[in-house]
Amino acid sequence: MLSTSFITSALLSSLSYVAAAPALVELSARQSITALTAAQISAFKPFTNFASTAYCQPSTTINWSCGANCAANPDFIPTASGGDGSSVQFWYVGFSPSQASVIVGHQGTDTSQITADATDADAFLESLDSTLFPGVSSSVEAHSGFANEQAKTATTILAAVQSTIAAHKATKVTIVGHSLGAAIALLDGVYLPLHISGVSFQVIGYGMPRVGNQAFANYVDAHLALTHINNKEDIVPIVPGKFLGYHHPSGEVHIMDNNQWVSCPGQDNSSNECSTGDVPNIFEGDTSDHDGPYDGVTMGC
Ligand SMILES: *[C@@H]1O[C@H](CO)[C@@H](O)[C@H](O)[C@H]1NC(C)=O
Ligand SMILES: *[C@@H]1O[C@H](CO)[C@@H](O)[C@H](O)[C@H]1NC(C)=O
Repeated sequence: MLSTSFITSALLSSLSYVAAAPALVELSARQSITALTAAQISAFKPFTNFASTAYCQPSTTINWSCGANCAANPDFIPTASGGDGSSVQFWYVGFSPSQASVIVGHQGTDTSQITADATDADAFLESLDSTLFPGVSSSVEAHSGFANEQAKTATTILAAVQSTIAAHKATKVTIVGHSLGAAIALLDGVYLPLHISGVSFQVIGYGMPRVGNQAFANYVDAHLALTHINNKEDIVPIVPGKFLGYHHPSGEVHIMDNNQWVSCPGQDNSSNECSTGDVPNIFEGDTSDHDGPYDGVTMGC
């Protein structure tokens, strides 16, 4: 049996431990950054495969003959695809009966290309195009290079999404992508709801760079359901730098080194359990983490 004095001293020492300021901060940080359950992680898997499938040739996504990527979502009904993989990233649109959702997939690029794009000295923050994004405040700014990429396919994808919603009486649209594809997906997630009503929209991005400024992040938080999943020490989620005025919206899920998936509250959370805190600069990142694996899925076709 433990003596009273032992319990008292243990209690006192634990109290004095808790009373130390740094320990308190650490404790509360751990409490609000929450681990995802196995079921929550599994629920992302179809979308992770959909994001990977966007790397496949449009001639194989249009009839869902792209091999393992397509086989991972066997009931999918494609309706349109396009892109050439160089001047226009591949994309596809269709309906997933098992997810009860229209899916839009955008191809990404490799780590060195996306890092070059994101940090391109010629790129700058610009207001969203008022024709594509009617009614959005000019204070909402996005990376000019990412905005150009989204504009290339915007109206074609809008038409494909509208016809797919009509054909399947869909009530939900999910836009997915990895890397540059995640940046385009996020811009599509802002764009499509401005032209389509009566359905809900969500964006699920993987290894997503920062896409816009603080006003853009606030707009996304107010209008869109976003999850952006970052793998370990991937450097892409920390570019372009915050010092250039870029800011992530909320909705980060970070895969930690121990393979635990955690939900990071707020925008651009600087906790070391989240990307921005874990990778303070690109030299402390690991470029090989960009492609995954995300719960066993490595991006690519
Ligand atoms: C980051 O997460 C912590 C919890 O660990 C939370 O207290 C804090 O408000 C978050 N930061 C931001 C910028 O939202
Ligand atoms: C899919 O389409 C491509 C070209 O459009 C064709 O070569 C291929 O045979 C088709 N595959 C299936 C399974 O229909």
